[in-house]
Amino acid sequence: MAEFKHVTVLLKEAVAGLNVQSTGTYVDATLGGGGHTQAILQQLAGGHLYSFDQDQTAIEYNKEHLKTEINQHKLTLVEDNFRNLKAELNQYNVNRIDGILYDLGVSSPQFDDAKRGFSYQHDAPLDMRMNQEQALSAMEVVNDWPYERLVKILYRYGEEKFAKSIARKIEQRRAVTPIRTTFELVDVIKEAIPAAARRHGGHPAKKSFQAIRIAVNDELGALEESLEQALTLLNVGGRISVITFQSLEDRLVKTMFREKTSLSANVPQGLPVIPAGMEPSFKLINKKPIIASNQELVANHRAHSAKLRIIERIKEGK
Ligand SMILES: C[S@@+](CC[C@H](N)C(=O)[O-])C[C@H]1O[C@@H](n2cnc3c(N)ncnc32)[C@H](O)[C@@H]1O
Repeated sequence: MAEFKHVTVLLKEAVAGLNVQSTGTYVDATLGGGGHTQAILQQLAGGHLYSFDQDQTAIEYNKEHLKTEINQHKLTLVEDNFRNLKAELNQYNVNRIDGILYDLGVSSPQFDDAKRGFSYQHDAPLDMRMNQEQALSAMEVVNDWPYERLVKILYRYGEEKFAKSIARKIEQRRAVTPIRTTFELVDVIKEAIPAAARRHGGHPAKKSFQAIRIAVNDELGALEESLEQALTLLNVGGRISVITFQSLEDRLVKTMFREKTSLSANVPQGLPVIPAGMEPSFKLINKKPIIASNQELVANHRAHSAKLRIIERIKEGK
């Protein structure tokens, strides 16, 4: 099988953040090329790791690459969306875990494989599905979704200020002929953005491609659902490490973690002592997100936008 070249971001920091106990039960929600999975496995003796990915190529690659650990019953690969975390673990009679790691977004092989249609730099059919068996692809989002829905995703998921004019151009173009490829979409986007605005900032299609990818894979919906389940699955002392790569994901994680680690709204403010049982069940391990070291930034451009947040369960309860 071809090599799966993904340089793992925040490898040491994210795994150290889990505080792995050698006999514990862990989950890697985003297996990819298996970098974090291998680092967790190295710390297990008697424990077990369940590694999820919804991308068949990632699962196939690691089936071969990590077959020793699979045969030793140290590792189970789960081909599914991490939004089905609880139901999948249930099938293995696992209802509590000691830690879970998320390294979000797409892997380099997904992005660099032209035919997956994730990149505005390669010409390919519009696709962008992480799970190649999923029905919805970028082709339908671009050609079938109504104008208002396109505007909404371009604004929300791409923070694209030219959302309306891009959606309008898409609508005009597809009324004449379907937009079938990444380069056709790039052309439409370029036409919609005023020349002056195109001269600075990144590639003019970057934000729209991000928005469409997030919509195709329902990335924020899946993350929120999965984190809610992960928080309930954690044993006391168990941790969640999340690496995000864009502001919307980071905001979602930050907000959820803040809610879980704050006194609940029904505790009156200013009490000298917090009544027993009302303290939060979770604590933040790092108040500010952990970012990549200078050394890592030089070696891996993907690390520039990476932010790691960690939370720990400190007692039973919600
Ligand atoms: C950035 S890569 C992970 C790289 C990995 N940590 C490593 O060290 O090689 C993200 C992976 O997570 C997968 N993924 C993203 N969202 C997912 C989801 N909702 N459910 C399952 N897998 C997902 C992608 O298919 C991709 O393979």
